Amino acid sequence: MRTHYCGQIDASLVGEEVTLCGWVHRRRDHGGILFVDLRDREGLVQVVFDPQALTGRPEVFRAAERLRSEYVVRLTGRVRRRPEGTENPALPTGEVEVLAASLEVLNRAEVPPFPVEDESEVHEDLRLRHRYLDLRRPTMQRRLRLRAQVTRSLRRFLDERGFLDIETPVLTKSTPEGARDFLVPARLHPGCFYALPQSPQLFKQILMAAGLDRYYQIARCFRDEDLRADRQPEFTQLDVEMSFVDEGQVMTLMEDMIRELFAEVLGVELPAPFPRLTHAEALERYGLDRPDLRIPLELVELKDAMAGVDFQVFSGPARDPRGRVAALRVPGGAALTRKEIDGYTAFVGRHGAKGLAYIKVNERARGREGLQSPIVKFLDDAALEAVLGRTGARDGDLIFFGADRAEVVNEALGALRVRLGHDRGLVEEGWRPVWIVDFPMFERDEEAGRWVALHHPFTAPQVEDPEALVRDPGAARSRAYDLVLNGTEVGGGSIRIHRPEMQEAVLGLLGIGPEEARGKFGFLLEALRHGCPPHGGIAFGLDRLVMLMAGAPSIREVIAFPKTQSGACPLTGAPDAVAAEQLRELGLRPRRPPAAEGGREEA
Ligand code: AMO
Ligand code: AMP
Repeated sequence: MRTHYCGQIDASLVGEEVTLCGWVHRRRDHGGILFVDLRDREGLVQVVFDPQALTGRPEVFRAAERLRSEYVVRLTGRVRRRPEGTENPALPTGEVEVLAASLEVLNRAEVPPFPVEDESEVHEDLRLRHRYLDLRRPTMQRRLRLRAQVTRSLRRFLDERGFLDIETPVLTKSTPEGARDFLVPARLHPGCFYALPQSPQLFKQILMAAGLDRYYQIARCFRDEDLRADRQPEFTQLDVEMSFVDEGQVMTLMEDMIRELFAEVLGVELPAPFPRLTHAEALERYGLDRPDLRIPLELVELKDAMAGVDFQVFSGPARDPRGRVAALRVPGGAALTRKEIDGYTAFVGRHGAKGLAYIKVNERARGREGLQSPIVKFLDDAALEAVLGRTGARDGDLIFFGADRAEVVNEALGALRVRLGHDRGLVEEGWRPVWIVDFPMFERDEEAGRWVALHHPFTAPQVEDPEALVRDPGAARSRAYDLVLNGTEVGGGSIRIHRPEMQEAVLGLLGIGPEEARGKFGFLLEALRHGCPPHGGIAFGLDRLVMLMAGAPSIREVIAFPKTQSGACPLTGAPDAVAAEQLRELGLRPRRPPAAEGGREEA
């Protein structure tokens, strides 16, 4: 139907006749001459309807007068240079215009509920409800195009290295990735349900047991969890598994893949190799296991210096084996107002901290006189020297303190560090990938009084002997690794357990007895007993990776049809009530009548 895309028309085509198809972006009337910006996937071009040039075809001009925003048209015309002084350097097609000779309206359009322009601020529900309009916007088109470039690059890398793209089921059995399952009733098995996979974890391990050696899949995963900017109930992983490898090999290969991806798609050179941090070091220095290394602030340990001070808020946690006392120096922070400090105190309060002690360092040379703080009076000289010395405080700085159970201090100061980094404009430009390694195998769930797996129950411990693991599970480290990029966890994986004895020991520690284990993952345990090779892998959150690469504020911005924060799809109205007949067939009866609107919230 067309000879060119609108966005491709440039000076090299001057004098040529072109046929274009697209949407009316804007129509302007300039003293009897009509200007129409015609838009398609590739961009905008200016089309001119001039009555003088259309003598003999007045119907073309009349049709152009009736054009409205978002009408779909096909037109033919000759490309010409724009008159001197009317060029638009902001547009790639801005040197030229198309003098229209014919016009065909392929479809009309109602007045759009919002302008199809990047500049218009539109409520997200409205955007999602009319996603076909929203996706016409250049930014959204760019994001989806970037996403396609990303998957193309990743596939190419893996294809070239002998990885096989293998699909795994979506109607399956519960996979333990720690979230709630989405369930699908099985009509042919009344009372039974399929679970949608939280990840292809067990299947990819079975593929290794089956000798496929190198697998990948761009896999849809489903997790019924509370949603945030970087979480969706269905999301996409680049899922990878390899046999006869150790963690170093997996990490090196995956790094190469990410480096090639950034070079190819963004023209960005990432460091080689990526730095590695142990989980313990990440917590100690950044308070969390997904540190944003673009922020040049670090927590400073003070526990050993505070045991003897006359300030219970500090000495208590300092003497508690599970406590922590730490400081965070804010360069130039002495300028913070009382109100700002109160704001940060409230902020850490939302992260569980009971307070936020601080010292303003006005003039260090003047000793205590030069410090301004509600707590200096409680600190002896040695403690104060430790604070100033270890933080490297300079005149004009402020030092914040956290003292509590280590988890509370880490959570509060870790979040505060990120918040301060953004508030104070300290976030450096660029890309800072980091591997986090040496995770603990287990975490203690104090309420339930049991161990829970930090990654998933198929992750191998660093010890080879199941008995050694069972003797001291709290001390065990795993062979897991996470890839963190600019403070976002973009991927995680591990070397897996490939021997049945170790798998049974780990499941036992997690309180999953032999019977339950057989019921839930008997098929995996059996596969391990039939000659399963050592293997390991990783999964990347594709949406998160693309979000970061696109500089988008949320993964919803890089998913064509995402769900809202409440898990609804305003476009289709999912989730929705179903016919009573469908429920009867499935042997289901709802205990509550469905909400009238289903997933279609009034926008
Ligand atoms: P994990 O649960 O860490 O590991 O998931 C891997 C990566 O997937 C992304 N991700 C999400 N993205 C969007 N929305 C969500 N709700 C969501 N949940 C996770 C993250 C995360 O790093 N089977 C293991 C992988 C393995 O061991 O090989 C797994 O799924 O970026
Ligand atoms: P208080 O003795 O409760 O008045 O606290 C004195 C100072 O210590 C105040 O600035 C509090 O914000 C701060 N503070 C109280 N509890 C903690 C804590 N757990 N960690 C850090 N600072 C705290």
